[in-house]
Amino acid sequence: MDKSRRMILGAMGGLALSGAFAGAKLAAARESAPVDVAKQERFAQMGGDFSWKYQKLDPAESGMVAYDGYWHKGYGCGYGVYYGIVGMLAEKFGAPYNSFPFSIFEMFKGGMSDWGTICGALAGASAAIFTFFPRKQANPMVSELFRWYEKTAFPIFDPKDAAKGYKGPLPTSISNSVLCHISVSRWAYTTKLGANSKERSERCGRITADVCMKAIEILNAKFDAGTEWKGAYSKQESVVQCTTCHSKGQMSDTLKGNMGCDSCHSGSDAVKDKFHDHPNL
Ligand code: HEC
Ligand code: HEC
Repeated sequence: MDKSRRMILGAMGGLALSGAFAGAKLAAARESAPVDVAKQERFAQMGGDFSWKYQKLDPAESGMVAYDGYWHKGYGCGYGVYYGIVGMLAEKFGAPYNSFPFSIFEMFKGGMSDWGTICGALAGASAAIFTFFPRKQANPMVSELFRWYEKTAFPIFDPKDAAKGYKGPLPTSISNSVLCHISVSRWAYTTKLGANSKERSERCGRITADVCMKAIEILNAKFDAGTEWKGAYSKQESVVQCTTCHSKGQMSDTLKGNMGCDSCHSGSDAVKDKFHDHPNL
């Protein structure tokens, strides 16, 4: 039977014999399914929740791997950071770490599928922290990382001759925000280098290394101090000030989140209304 005739018959079969015929096909498929596969109980997790244990890593070694991971198949910042942590545990210790589908974190690239929301490097690091620690222990570690990120002039890391996007030093800026959009846009505006330039790609590759190294520093300290671990950063001034009224039980319970308030509510030129008389050249 030639191919097109077989296809036509197949389609007709689908229409005419859909009932009993399809039912028989389904039963056959069920019989041929592997019988020794352990099925998932509702909300159960293999090994139990948070059963993977962190082991100390070398920040410098992982930083370089994170940088390379950023460029690997263009998977980007979240993949790079996560691989620099859990991927390195897989390389050093094998199971269970090597069973993780690392490429899933390509989703964090560009602040989540190019939406410019959370910086993907931070998202990858947070995912790594939550791979080992539940919310009560993980949140303070995430906060420590995020507050450091808001106030740090990036990029710091310089791969020198191993640079993959652009060789040489890059200008820095402080993002004052954990958001990809604000972090990249402020940098592009202050440095006059395009948000789509190769220098900007390189910048984010270097930040991937910076965030990975900082996350490992935090994880290593946590490994040593256990439940005694405490972060060094206190709440942002703006959050302390604004939440005296904008919080539960106060005048105005309208606020969600711990991001510094000043990047968006400072009334600076950048956040004023641009829909009227703009650009005013
Ligand atoms: C002394 C109390 C107080 C403090 C401190 C305060 N707010 Fe408010 N804010 C209010 C109240 C009351 C409203 C009215 C809205 C409501 O009823 O929920 C408001 C409204 C707002 C609004 C809504 C739009 C507007 O302008 O009315 C924004 C945005 C806002 N505040 C941001 C901030 C930020 C950012 C800070 C810190 C820099 C801050 N607030 C500090 C009491 C406060
Ligand atoms: C990433 C930018 C961003 C950050 C950071 C941010 N906000 Fe907002 N906030 C907004 C936007 C945008 C709205 C919605 C504004 C509107 O309704 O036009 C909003 C809404 C609010 C509102 C409700 C009033 C309104 O007009 O809708 C309050 C109150 C508020 N923010 C306070 C704060 C405080 C306090 C902080 C710091 C803890 C903070 N925000 C951090 C961007 C931000």
